[in-house]
Amino acid sequence: MKLSTFGSALVGLAVAHASTVEYSAVTGYFLQDEDSTDASTFDYTAENFGLINRSYPADQKLKNQASLTQWERFHHQVVKLNEESAKNVEYKVLFLGRHGEGWHNAAETYYGTPAWNCYWAELNGNSTATWADASLTENGIQQAQKAHDFWASQIKSQNIHTPDAYYVSPLTRALQTANYTFTNLALPHGATPFKPTVKELFREGISIHTCDHRRNASYIKSLFPAWRLEDGFVENDPFWNGVEGETSDAEDVRSATALNEVFFGKGGKVQHEGAFVSVTSHSGEISSILRVVGHRTFRLNTGAVIPVLVKAVKSGKGEIGSVTSSPSWTVSPHCTEPPVSSVTACVCPSSAVPVTTPLVTGA
Ligand SMILES: *[C@@H]1O[C@H](CO)[C@@H](O)[C@H](O)[C@H]1NC(C)=O
Ligand SMILES: *[C@@H]1O[C@H](CO)[C@@H](O)[C@H](O)[C@H]1NC(C)=O
Ligand SMILES: *[C@@H]1O[C@H](CO)[C@@H](O)[C@H](O)[C@H]1NC(C)=O
Ligand SMILES: *[C@@H]1O[C@H](CO)[C@@H](O)[C@H](O)[C@H]1NC(C)=O
Repeated sequence: MKLSTFGSALVGLAVAHASTVEYSAVTGYFLQDEDSTDASTFDYTAENFGLINRSYPADQKLKNQASLTQWERFHHQVVKLNEESAKNVEYKVLFLGRHGEGWHNAAETYYGTPAWNCYWAELNGNSTATWADASLTENGIQQAQKAHDFWASQIKSQNIHTPDAYYVSPLTRALQTANYTFTNLALPHGATPFKPTVKELFREGISIHTCDHRRNASYIKSLFPAWRLEDGFVENDPFWNGVEGETSDAEDVRSATALNEVFFGKGGKVQHEGAFVSVTSHSGEISSILRVVGHRTFRLNTGAVIPVLVKAVKSGKGEIGSVTSSPSWTVSPHCTEPPVSSVTACVCPSSAVPVTTPLVTGA
């Protein structure tokens, strides 16, 4: 079990008496936690979401354990872990879902990664496709429908406990993925209805690419009028600037803040809303969440979902120390014309020097 600590102490400027949170990924329950599982070939739908067939300590407290499914006993085990742990300890199972294929993914494949990064990604699209705040391709919609069908079969065959809370990144591809995955699912009796919270800090790592620039709150509201925008969600994207990109250190501080809010609420109190939490997000951001909780690297294919059991230990009293200084961002030089093709790095035509000025404004 690897440990990592995020909070005010990490960045130095400790707030007096503030709490910090230590996260760890609890291994032994899922195949995706084992070094022997190959992420590139792992199919969550073929493996019961990766849940390992085993008995649990809490099984002894069940009278009818022989008639229960693996997922029913696992949920019971997590409920017991929470009941039997100290007040400052919280276990949650995060269902981390990567959005289905978006137009930006298709374009990166089409142009090749070096040319994509140093030119095309800085545009809103080409003459036939748009990838600024990209939408799902037809393939991406099918991947989300596959997740939907898998949840439906898990509800039927495993009587799986469906998420107690749903969070989604504010980028369109994630909003669409959550919608296709969870709308019209026949949820078990008493389950939390699907009414996700759009959470700013679960967005993709913020690069200068236009696909990382979110649309305004009015647009999100008009797309999904019944959904919740979290408190404080502002109209226009407060982060993307097209010049500087977030470093992975900065992204990890952001992800830790998002987890603190999911585990302990914005005021720092332990959340008793239930242990199963769905987070529909992105490849880079899920990698960051996995780093924060000390999970091994596990790269998800587009549309894939993995559950991870996470333990949070809050120490100290009072509010969780807010991050008062986060690692700085860096500029990303790029070309002003399509780069020389078939290269591994950004080489602009006519030996032009890469620039740091945006290629489009108000994308
Ligand atoms: C668990 O056991 C079932 C059969 O009882 C099998 O179909 C499934 O593949 C096993 N899953 C894992 C993750 O070992
Ligand atoms: C635009 O990009 C898409 C990939 O997103 C590609 O399929 C299409 O062929 C491109 N269009 C042109 C005109 O190059
Ligand atoms: C949301 O999902 C439903 C069910 O799959 C679909 O009919 C609808 O078009 C989707 N809405 C959006 C805005 O994608
Ligand atoms: C929000 O963005 C949409 C385009 O996505 C635009 O048409 C609309 O005017 C914007 N609304 C506000 C309030 O800025």
